[in-house]
Amino acid sequence: MEKLNLDKLPRHVALIMDGNGRWAQKKGLPRSFGHKAGAEKLKTIVRFASDIGISAITAYAFSTENWKRPQNEVDILMSLFSSYLTNEVEELHQNQVRIMFSGDLSRLAKPLEQKMLDAAQYTRNNQGLTLNLAVNYGGRAELVRAFRSLADKIATGELKSDDIGEDIITEYLYTASLPDPELLIRPSGDLRLSNFLLWQTAYTELWFTPLNWPDFTPQVLVQALLDFQARDRRFGGLKK
Ligand code: FPP
Repeated sequence: MEKLNLDKLPRHVALIMDGNGRWAQKKGLPRSFGHKAGAEKLKTIVRFASDIGISAITAYAFSTENWKRPQNEVDILMSLFSSYLTNEVEELHQNQVRIMFSGDLSRLAKPLEQKMLDAAQYTRNNQGLTLNLAVNYGGRAELVRAFRSLADKIATGELKSDDIGEDIITEYLYTASLPDPELLIRPSGDLRLSNFLLWQTAYTELWFTPLNWPDFTPQVLVQALLDFQARDRRFGGLKK
């Protein structure tokens, strides 16, 4: 921790909370225990990240592809999101955390969708860490949605195709209010993006660990941040 340069933290960290099922299975427990432990771990990491001054975390909580899981597992995840909001929003609010969501929430049960919208509304003016939960989120679906909105604007004459550039596309994404993530962390040993933040990760530094998400700790986050600070980021240019 002493080696960490707090003035050079990534402003936005993307987090794929993977390996909950494997963590549970290794212990001979049902997968749902892994998701529960994963939700607890998110609380710990958000608290720590907020304390050290990271500005934003986008956590992949449920992908557009996760609907393919058994109904029972989908239900457990939805009820975890609901209890997380019931139990955590006030503390997050006290800590100045701004909660937001990325993804198509309209496919969720109405009371859960409403709880999410309420949490975002309640915390919208907070000035601390932004916790962006990606729920029913897919990077391709996000781009399709953006392109459709842009096509509508062109059809009504509000935009011309020549107006479309990288900045405008960025503005039409769920993450418009956030800088691109500078660091993406994926635990559990899988080395892929899984349709997460496809546009936003063009120059993101990727960091992987074989640990499963419930075994992730603030110390592991510090290691990822130290590695990030040692990386040479050139953005296609030459070394300084
Ligand atoms: C991937 O692990 C994890 C998920 C699909 C769900 C992530 C959700 C949580 C951590 C729960 C709570 C979140 C909030 C916002 C309260 P996996 O099931 O794919 O694990 P496996 O690859 O080992 O099977």
